[in-house]
Amino acid sequence: MFRVPVKTSSHNYDVLIGSELLAQAGALLRSAAHVASEKIIVVSSESVWRHYSSTLTSSLDRVGLNWHPLLIGDGEQAKTLRTVEQAAEQLVALGADRSSIVVALGGGVIGDMAGFLAAIYMRGIRFVQIPTTLLAQVDASVGGKTGVNLVSGKNLIGSFHQPECVIIDPVLTCTLSDREFRAGLFEVIKSGAIADAKLFAFMETQRERILARDAEAVAYCVEASVRVKAHVVSVDERESGLRRILNFGHTIGHALEAEAHYSGLLHGEAVGWGMIAAAQIALLHGTSSEALARRIEEVVLNYGPLPAVAGEAESIVARIAGDKKTIGGKTHFVLVREVGQAAVVSDVSKDAALKAVEYVQELAHAHA
Ligand SMILES: NC(=O)c1ccc[n+]([C@@H]2O[C@H](COP(=O)([O-])OP(=O)(O)OC[C@H]3O[C@@H](n4cnc5c(N)ncnc54)[C@H](O)[C@@H]3O)[C@@H](O)[C@H]2O)c1
Ligand SMILES: [Zn+2]
Repeated sequence: MFRVPVKTSSHNYDVLIGSELLAQAGALLRSAAHVASEKIIVVSSESVWRHYSSTLTSSLDRVGLNWHPLLIGDGEQAKTLRTVEQAAEQLVALGADRSSIVVALGGGVIGDMAGFLAAIYMRGIRFVQIPTTLLAQVDASVGGKTGVNLVSGKNLIGSFHQPECVIIDPVLTCTLSDREFRAGLFEVIKSGAIADAKLFAFMETQRERILARDAEAVAYCVEASVRVKAHVVSVDERESGLRRILNFGHTIGHALEAEAHYSGLLHGEAVGWGMIAAAQIALLHGTSSEALARRIEEVVLNYGPLPAVAGEAESIVARIAGDKKTIGGKTHFVLVREVGQAAVVSDVSKDAALKAVEYVQELAHAHA
């Protein structure tokens, strides 16, 4: 088992990573989250519960923990204040009080909602993340961002609420669909590109093993990505500086997702296209070599196929200005200068962004 510490101003905790860790969750809740006789509410979704409830609950029973399931919808459509409100009513009905602890068992949607529920229930109770998608394991479960969507946009309501610990069992990703698994891999490529050249090279050279979900290869991808994220959020919990580099590929990625009405592209896939666009912007901006831009493009395309990009380039670029990461009217782009090193720039011209989106659209067309 690997232990990756996260240190934030509000809370220090560990991310625990290891295969078959779900079967030890009960003992880990006792040792790492100091749970004793308090009520545990396991927030999950029907499909995740079907796969993993027996492993989790027998591990809780084995150490005599007191648990109750609370199943809610997952998928982006369910990620609303209404779902959280209904879940809060169920917490009351289950007799949850300020000492109770929420355990989130699911993908990023369950983790964000369960974390937000824990952040606001009785002004805040403790919670633990047990992420079950690759995307949630390498990204969403670490760093304490929780929240829900509004009709006007994604993740516009939320709170920073750090978990007591994060328990990651990479083996859980073996039941993911091929597409969901690959979507998570784009976030792994991102972690490598911005902060870990060795991880990036691993993604370049170990494609077959990774796509075959070789346990050791997947565990390495998860562990290395978590180390990047844990380091970044430990330096900058609230995203005033360094944490922004985690948005590599996300500025255009978010615009592509919105343009596809959050249905044509999975988040990770949008980030895949977004990284190619950002590499192209860096080239136009004069901060990247042609060779670097091609390297990023090649590794992303190697983990495809990526779905087509919907919409006109002009309207995609217009959406960037509305992104919640836009500060004081300035759009910030994360550009990779060399593999493993990224910087935030705010002087990218609209023309460069437009050219990069057009470039990605042509690529998408050629690969369709
Ligand atoms: N808080 C953060 O820092 C952060 C970072 C990145 C993304 N996010 C959020 O994460 C969400 C996306 O998360 P996601 O990609 O995990 O999607 P998701 O939670 O919607 O899960 C995708 C699908 O996989 C299913 N699933 C989950 N685990 C499974 C398993 N082990 N086997 C089989 N099926 C399984 C789910 O039921 C769902 O249908 C977005 O809402 C995004 O905003 C948050
Ligand atoms: Zn992301």
